[in-house]
Amino acid sequence: MFQSTALLAVICICITQSWSSAFQPSSRKQCLSRPGATKESQLRTLVQSVPRQSGDDSTSASSSADDGITFSPGEATIRLGLSTGPTVWTEFGRIAQEFDPVNLGQGFPDWLPPKFAVDSLVEAVLDSAQSPHQYTRPAGHPNLVQQLARRYSIHMKRDIHPMDEIAVTVGASQALYLSLQTLIKPGDEVVLFEPFFDLYVNQVRLAGGTPVFVPLYFEPYDDQIEGVVSGGEWKLDRRELMKVVSPKTKAIILNSPHNPTGKVFTRSEMETIAESLDLAGPACVVLSDEVYKYIVHAPPKEQFTSDSPLCAGHTHFASLPGMWDRTITISSAGKTFSATGWQVGWCIGPRRLIGPIHQLLPYVQFCASTVIQEALARSLPRADEPYEGHPSYYEYLKDKYTKKRDLLVNALTNAGFAVPDYQRTPGGGFFIFARAGNAIVDLIPPKYLMAKNPAAPGGVARQDWALCQWMAEEIGLLCIPSSPFFSMVKAEEGASDSFIRVAFCKNDETIEAAAKALERLKTMEVGAGKSSNATIASTGDVK
Ligand SMILES: Cc1ncc(COP(=O)(O)O)c(C=O)c1O
Repeated sequence: MFQSTALLAVICICITQSWSSAFQPSSRKQCLSRPGATKESQLRTLVQSVPRQSGDDSTSASSSADDGITFSPGEATIRLGLSTGPTVWTEFGRIAQEFDPVNLGQGFPDWLPPKFAVDSLVEAVLDSAQSPHQYTRPAGHPNLVQQLARRYSIHMKRDIHPMDEIAVTVGASQALYLSLQTLIKPGDEVVLFEPFFDLYVNQVRLAGGTPVFVPLYFEPYDDQIEGVVSGGEWKLDRRELMKVVSPKTKAIILNSPHNPTGKVFTRSEMETIAESLDLAGPACVVLSDEVYKYIVHAPPKEQFTSDSPLCAGHTHFASLPGMWDRTITISSAGKTFSATGWQVGWCIGPRRLIGPIHQLLPYVQFCASTVIQEALARSLPRADEPYEGHPSYYEYLKDKYTKKRDLLVNALTNAGFAVPDYQRTPGGGFFIFARAGNAIVDLIPPKYLMAKNPAAPGGVARQDWALCQWMAEEIGLLCIPSSPFFSMVKAEEGASDSFIRVAFCKNDETIEAAAKALERLKTMEVGAGKSSNATIASTGDVK
C-alpha cells in the first residue's frame, strides 16, 4: 500500500514538474528545449535536411568525417541525402530561444491530457496484477487492439478483427513508415497532395519510392475585387490527380483533416481519389492519415459525411464502397488526447496489408510502450462518457478547439490576415493557414525578403519565410512559414508566398498574447497609412 502511494506520488510529482517547467507561460524559452521538443527538432532536422533539388551531389557514396575516418553511408542515408544543414524547425527553434516570441508554431497542445487519461495512465502503472511494464504482443497490446477493433468496427460498419486487421505502432509516424516499407519497391511512385505534412516526402524516399506531387489549388472567395486579399478554400483538381496516377503508382497518401491547411476533404474529393485507383495497378493502396479526425471543428455540410456515429463530420476513406480492401487507415492517440508524447499509433486494414506490417514490426521495435498502450485501452471507453457538460470527451474536444479557432481567427483577421470562413469552408485539425493581406506584406522590412538563409527552401527567404521571421524577431509572434510544406517547384512558383501556418492548440492566455502581438501589426499599418480592412475581404461573423 505504502509502495503504491509512494509510486503514485512520484508519478504525480514528475507529471507536475514536467508540466510546470515545460508549459508555464513564463518558461516559453525552455519549452523549445525540453526533451519532447528536442526530439521533434531532431526528427525535423533529419526530415528537412534532405536535398530537395535534383542534381544535389550530397548523395555521393562516402564522406570524410572530422576525425579523418571515412564514413560510407548505407542505403537509407543515401536515399535521404547527407546534407545536415539547418531546417525550418531548427531555425525557428533558434529564433524562439533568442527572441522569446509567443509561440504558435509547434503542433502540440500546451495543456495536460484529460484527467481520465492521466488517471488511466496512473492506474495502468500501478496495476500489479497485469503489470504492463514488460514487452507485449508486437502487433499490439491485446487490451488496446480489442478497444480499437470495437471502435473501428462501428466507424467502418464491418467486423474488424483485433488480431489480424490492426497493427499498433510507435505513433502515426511509424504507422506510415511501416506501411510504406511494406508496400514500396525502388522506382514505385507515391502520390502526395501538396501542401503536405513534411514527414511524408522523406518517408517515401526512405522506402525507395518517388514522391509525385498533386497540387491542391487555392480558390479565393473574393479576389476579383481590386486589391482585396480574401480567405478561400484548398481544393483537389480531379484532372491534376488523373494526370499523374498510373500503373507505377503504388500508394496515395491522403490526410484529412489536413496538416498544414486544416482542409477537410469532401466526400466527392474522396470519391475522386477512389476512382483514380482504376488508373493504377490493383496493388495501389491509399494510406489515409486521420490523426486529426476528432477535431473536425467545421464539419462539411454534405449529407454523407457524418457516416460514422462515433466521429461526427469525419469520413473514413476506407468506409467508401470498395475501399476497405485498398486502404490502410492510420491514426494515433496524440492529437485526440492532447498527449503527443504518448506515441501510440496504429494501422487498420485488411489482413493482406496488415500482415506484412506485423511481420516487420518486431524488427523495427519489438513493441510500442506497453504501459501507454494499456493506458490508452483504459482511456478509450471513458472518452465515450459524458465529459465536462458534453455528451462525450470528443464533443468537448471539438467545442474547445472551435472556441480557440475563433479566438485566433479574430486576432488574425483584425491584423489583416485573410482566413477561411468556417461557415462555408469545412475545417479540421488545429492549424489555420492564414493568408497575408497586402498591408502586412508591405510592412515586411526589405532586409528579410529574399535574404540568404540555408534553412529556407531554395536557400532564400521568400515572402512567407521573411514574414514569419520578421514577426518572430520584431513583432513577438512565432508562426511557421508555409514553403517547407510545398515541393520546391511550387514554392519557387510562389504558391506558398502568401501563407503562414498558425497553431491554435495553445491555451487561451497564449492565444490572447498572440492577439496582442498582432495588434502591433495593425498599429503599424495605421501608422503607414494603410488599413487592413481595406485589403482583406470579410470572412463573415466569427463568434
Ligand atoms: C498529419 C500528421 N500525420 C502524422 C503525424 C504524426 O503523428 P504521431 O505523433 O502520432 O507520430 C502528425 C504530427 O504532427 C501529423 O500532423
